[in-house]
Amino acid sequence: MPNTEIVKISEDITAADDANLRTAADVIVAGGLVAFPTETVYGLGANGLSASACAKIYQAKGRPSDNPLILHISDISQIDSLAAEVGWAARALAESFWPGPMTLVLKRTSRVPDIVAGGLDTVGIRLPKGRVARELISRAGVPIAAPSAIVSGRPSSTRAEHVAEDLGGKVDMIIDGGLSVYGLESTIVDVSGAVPCLLRPGSVTLEQLERIVGKVDTDPAVTALGLSGERPKAPGMAYVHYAPKAELTIVVGDINQARVEIARLAQEQHNAARPGTKIAIITTDEGLESYSGVPARVLSLGGRFALGEVAASLYDTLRALDERGVTHAFAEGFEETGIGFSIMNRLKKAAGYKIIQA
Ligand code: TXA
Ligand code: MG
Repeated sequence: MPNTEIVKISEDITAADDANLRTAADVIVAGGLVAFPTETVYGLGANGLSASACAKIYQAKGRPSDNPLILHISDISQIDSLAAEVGWAARALAESFWPGPMTLVLKRTSRVPDIVAGGLDTVGIRLPKGRVARELISRAGVPIAAPSAIVSGRPSSTRAEHVAEDLGGKVDMIIDGGLSVYGLESTIVDVSGAVPCLLRPGSVTLEQLERIVGKVDTDPAVTALGLSGERPKAPGMAYVHYAPKAELTIVVGDINQARVEIARLAQEQHNAARPGTKIAIITTDEGLESYSGVPARVLSLGGRFALGEVAASLYDTLRALDERGVTHAFAEGFEETGIGFSIMNRLKKAAGYKIIQA
């Protein structure tokens, strides 16, 4: 069992930070595990060219071996040694959204270990925007394979404390870079076929992708209501994900009606309460007042029209349900366009597709 060292490193990278980054890079090169901040969520990193180092990622997370890892690079030129064919759409998207919260799936070269690809002939590649992440990769001198730094199935980590909770004692080092800016995992676009295909929505929206490359398909698994039997092209999208321990219900439809319905459901749950029942409501700042007098803890995700803020606080809020021992939670839905589409994708999965129309 590694003795997990936790170090703070800020985005301005002071001289002290520099020494710590050097140590972290050495751990990666030596085949160890380093959890590090990115602008999306925290990653659990290992040397992406070493099969034995990557095997440790699967072990620490309890991750199924058919779920491939994303390789993180620090310079766009590194794509060519990892991807076999980089077409115009891939180049255009990389130039538009890298560094940033987007992963490209491309045909892989033999340099990519089989274990990274989870048995596929493709590889996911991302050039993150976060400076700590990029400096770590460039100092390590290898691509860093990194899934979200959590035990498989939990909401992704947007703070180092979450990582320590899930992976303390299982990794060599955790870099604390504060709160993740975007808070949702990267948008994944498969550019290995004729038409680009969205495999996982994120902070780079479908609308933004289409502005650069024209028509982008959406993998049916992104919108399917869970049990369609369809196999998602991003294997990770098939697993139970982002789930809090509480039973979560989303109420969609007209927002005022949704609030009335949520207040009613919370009251009903309260009246039927058994010992240990704890009820929570997930709303936005605008909704706080409508729940006064309702017997539930009311949590806000931020401003309803500041969707970036909502995305950034989503996983933190789902974790707060667990920390407070909440057994039943009700969340307001969001309009499914732009980042709202990505937020609803995660919320629906967290709720196991338990959705009520108000
Ligand atoms: O924002 C992110 O992408 C974060 C940070 C750490 O970079 N990483 C992340 O990794 O979310 P992970 O492993 O939690 O999710 C990666 C997703 C999984 O659903 C996986 O199945 C899919 O990407 N994936 C990876 N390689 C793929 C490939 N070659 N083809 C299709 N899907 C792939
Ligand atoms: Mg994940």
